[in-house]
Amino acid sequence: MEQIRYSSRRLAEVLGLSVRELAEAEERGAIQSTVPSDGPTQKMSYSMQDLSSARAALNRMPPRRPLRRQLFLNFKGGTGKTSVSSSYAFRLAEMGHRVLVIDLDSQGHASKCLGVCGEEAERTLFDAIIKKSPLETVILKTGMPGLDVVPSNLTMSTIDLSLMPLAAREFRLRNVLKEVEGTYDYAVLDAPPSFGLLNLNALMAAHDLFVPVLPDFLSFHGLKLLFETVQGLEEDLQHVLDHIFIVINAYNATYKIAKEAKEALEKHYPDFLLKQVIRQCTKFAQASSEGIPIFAYDSESKGAQDIQAVLDEVQARIGAPVRLKAVESA
Ligand SMILES: Nc1ncnc2c1ncn2[C@@H]1O[C@H](COP(=O)(O)OP(=O)(O)OP(=O)(O)O)[C@@H](O)[C@H]1O
Ligand SMILES: [Mg+2]
Repeated sequence: MEQIRYSSRRLAEVLGLSVRELAEAEERGAIQSTVPSDGPTQKMSYSMQDLSSARAALNRMPPRRPLRRQLFLNFKGGTGKTSVSSSYAFRLAEMGHRVLVIDLDSQGHASKCLGVCGEEAERTLFDAIIKKSPLETVILKTGMPGLDVVPSNLTMSTIDLSLMPLAAREFRLRNVLKEVEGTYDYAVLDAPPSFGLLNLNALMAAHDLFVPVLPDFLSFHGLKLLFETVQGLEEDLQHVLDHIFIVINAYNATYKIAKEAKEALEKHYPDFLLKQVIRQCTKFAQASSEGIPIFAYDSESKGAQDIQAVLDEVQARIGAPVRLKAVESA
């Protein structure tokens, strides 16, 4: 992702400044571009590191928070878990939060969406959970300061079998995440579409469960199973999730079936359904094929706008600051 560049206008937006305030900060030396210019006609652009340095120099860091573990899971495949979770995590980091993405899927798609090649990774969560390697030896940098990844590849595909004979096998991931309690504000977990011990571990580790659903009626069956599983965790393992957020993904209001499915979700899951939907947006596929998140690919796309709105709605619900505020100096 190193190639991601911010225009002056976008940098100002991300930092919550007007273009004039940005120019003033630049004059004071609080903001600097380290991107080499291609010539006098070339417009100024900034790297992700420049964004991070500017945020620190301007003291526009969001308050630190205890690690919030957020899981994206649906037993049904292809509902947007990876597209939404990786974009959501990138945006949190862009806003100045410290974020660890945990790729639980042996396909390694979340790693790929953040420009990390899981296939080349020497270690995965398997090493941390099964072999008890320290988690910090598994974590990789993404190029965006504050955004790191626990990568995944095919070695993860046998993890359910390896977990089976272990003691406290449902709690392994939760315990591993204790190692990074003070290091990150958010852990964003991208789950595979399966029903097994790894996903059970992920549920046991999570504060918040995000369930991306497609606006069709096949999604209902999967949701019912998921809610039954969550209820089972409450009863048998005494784990109560703080929040469940059902988020409708790839919504197209011109399809009658999509509207009907949305109405049915509003009726059956009123306490869990987010008001904000994520509209259908072809930019998701293009962005992930290039290994960059949608905010960097096209920050004005419907997908980026809708994920920002989802993030705002969720932060208001979990009690975090909705927008960045400059930290009061002590
Ligand atoms: N809002 C959207 N609009 C259009 N296409 C989308 C949207 N969200 C996701 N997609 C596309 O849908 C496909 C599946 O998305 P994604 O891989 O994120 O789903 P998933 O739930 O992680 O899948 P899996 O269950 O295999 O892990 C991808 O091709 C992705 O680009
Ligand atoms: Mg996925």
